[in-house]
Amino acid sequence: MQSKKVVILGTGGTIAGVSSSAASNIEYTAAQLGVDQLIKAVPRLVSLGEISTEQVAQIDSKDMSFAVWAALATRVQHYLEQVDVQGVVITHGTDTLEETAYFLQAVLNPTKPVVLTCAMRPADALAPDGPQNLLDAVTVARHAEAKGVVVVCAGLIHSAQDVQKVHTYRLNAFGSGDAGAIGFIEANSLKLVRNWPLAQQIHARAAPENIALLTAVHLWPMVEIVMSHAGATGKGVEALVACGVRGLVVAGTGNGTVHHSLQAALLKAQSQGVRVVRATRCPQGRVLSTASDLFSAFDGLSPVKSRIALMLQLMNIDAGQ
Ligand code: SIN
Repeated sequence: MQSKKVVILGTGGTIAGVSSSAASNIEYTAAQLGVDQLIKAVPRLVSLGEISTEQVAQIDSKDMSFAVWAALATRVQHYLEQVDVQGVVITHGTDTLEETAYFLQAVLNPTKPVVLTCAMRPADALAPDGPQNLLDAVTVARHAEAKGVVVVCAGLIHSAQDVQKVHTYRLNAFGSGDAGAIGFIEANSLKLVRNWPLAQQIHARAAPENIALLTAVHLWPMVEIVMSHAGATGKGVEALVACGVRGLVVAGTGNGTVHHSLQAALLKAQSQGVRVVRATRCPQGRVLSTASDLFSAFDGLSPVKSRIALMLQLMNIDAGQ
């Protein structure tokens, strides 16, 4: 029996979802069961060591808000500071899981493990995947060398930097692109194939300072994503500038290239003080910089993660980018 405890924070999602028919994996309502009920479905968890729980939110993660993120970062940091806590597990919906994982890694840069897990089927499905994912997540949180924010789903461990939801339905819904998974959980034990996230991302500022900045901000800066595509225009950008947007991420084609009409509007916005960052709409690969770039890019971040990095920068929070 381990001496330190793992804290499981509930936020909702399909893992806590209940279906209108056990035969259906898509007709269900997310975020119905509390985290304590999820634990009851996995009796083996208690044999791994002490567990404690807290329900931080109860939402479908498509509705993730800045308020929930701020509360989650605060509670995770609170528990990580306790000497008797080995790590934190967060049950979360799959739809914005990669955003929350990136956000927590950027703000907290934890030396202990913070493991997000989820499910693609509701808790009362014929064969739910949540219980195994939860058991695997706690196994990872209990690993002696685990550190940083990771995502555990379908037996794979992904880094917050690389993880992306890549499938709408399959149980193995997440990928890490070219980087690949950090490791696997097989028969309740862990096989690592690359470093834990912290080894790659060292930030200057400590988590408590970042949380103080985050919670002091009354209104998070408005940062939106626009996409470049055939027939793109600058009208959306003009409307966003008129609404007071502070930052724009353009999900460009290929290596972050942008339709000339959209590019003209983005350059105008940039000259008016709006921060413009380019990313790629390609699901794999990273934007490679050239000397003639008109807009900067965050190294290897998808459009949704670039948006978070830009919001944090505008709030003067050190996201290590
Ligand atoms: C959600 O993201 O909360 C619903 C979908 C899911 O968890 O798979």
